[in-house]
Amino acid sequence: MKKYDFAFIVHPRSRKELVRSFPPFWFVPNFLLYLFSPRIIGDIVLTHERRPLRGALVGIVNVPAQFLKRDEKIKKKILSAIRLAQNYGANIVGLGSLSSPAVSGGLDIQAESLIAITNGNALTAAVVIQDVQSIAGMLQKKNKKANVAIIGATGSIGQAVSHAIAGHVDSLSIIARKKESLDVLADTLRSHSPGLMLTVSTTVADAETANIIVVATSHHETVLHSAGVVEGTVVYDITQPSNLKKSDWIRRDDVLVMQGGLVHFPGLQVSKITGLDDEESFACLAETALLSLAQRTSEDFSVGHVTAENIKKIEKLAKQHGVTSLIKKWNNVLEWDNIIMFIEKYA
Ligand SMILES: NC(=O)c1ccc[n+]([C@@H]2O[C@H](COP(=O)([O-])OP(=O)(O)OC[C@H]3O[C@@H](n4cnc5c(N)ncnc54)[C@H](OP(=O)(O)O)[C@@H]3O)[C@@H](O)[C@H]2O)c1
Repeated sequence: MKKYDFAFIVHPRSRKELVRSFPPFWFVPNFLLYLFSPRIIGDIVLTHERRPLRGALVGIVNVPAQFLKRDEKIKKKILSAIRLAQNYGANIVGLGSLSSPAVSGGLDIQAESLIAITNGNALTAAVVIQDVQSIAGMLQKKNKKANVAIIGATGSIGQAVSHAIAGHVDSLSIIARKKESLDVLADTLRSHSPGLMLTVSTTVADAETANIIVVATSHHETVLHSAGVVEGTVVYDITQPSNLKKSDWIRRDDVLVMQGGLVHFPGLQVSKITGLDDEESFACLAETALLSLAQRTSEDFSVGHVTAENIKKIEKLAKQHGVTSLIKKWNNVLEWDNIIMFIEKYA
């Protein structure tokens, strides 16, 4: 049997993607997808002089809306994916895309998993914090205010990013649907950063007043529309599947939509089914590979909300292995020079 060091759970980003990747599923209605067991759909190879690694991409064929029901049926599928990875020798499993929000960032399955898990959100948050602070710094250098809105601010990633950037921006809007969670976050933000200009909202459209909008929601459909977003805004999207509709944004040359939460990982090759090129990775997948590489697999790593302590630990590992932030725009790599040019022209 082929052996794997680690595994990463993935799922189709839409029904269209499922049918495109596996055409026979055209005949299978969504409610029957629960009958199909997870299986290994691709490899992750890390070429490393001292410790080459092999990871498995474990596919669950359910569609995004089914993950967001957060019910027992999807929890069982995720646990079954973890058992499959364990049977193939994996010591740690990363919860990719919505397989993490489906089980509260891993909290709901932690007790039942016999191998280590990580939701991969510490490295994702680290990369978002770094990128958003760089963009804010570029605006401030031009004597512009950096007014940031985070949609999904109370989530595993969103709350960590909110805390980390609060002291570096001119104003912060935190947005999500549940008012109670927003109020809890707002209280801690106000106590840690007393001078912060903070707005709390349950209305996504309130993000439109910001000039940096971070989209960190876990939803299966479009959350933010382009119509009310003003010229010069940078939209930083980490959602998988994306909560922005490309056709709605593609003609907005005056708004820079970037896909973040990605990294350049020297020596890493992930199966093409993910849409990633060589040495490119989702930050959450990279976190799983880094933990395996460092043999930190005796206990769970990122579970539930991201902590500042885990961000520091994973940043250190990323640095040791040359893993750096990567930004794309509609699948093409975006250089920082392009971002500077956009800010000079529109901001
Ligand atoms: N690029 C990468 O490498 C990478 C890595 C990890 C995660 N991700 C993606 O990042 C996203 C966030 O992940 P997470 O683990 O932080 O999720 P999470 O813990 O479930 O948090 C989601 C946040 O979004 C809010 N939200 C959900 N639906 C919303 C809606 N319709 N309108 C407004 N707010 C909404 C939630 O609050 P309410 O429920 O109160 O609205 C919460 O604040 C997911 O799409 C995930 O797939 C990407």
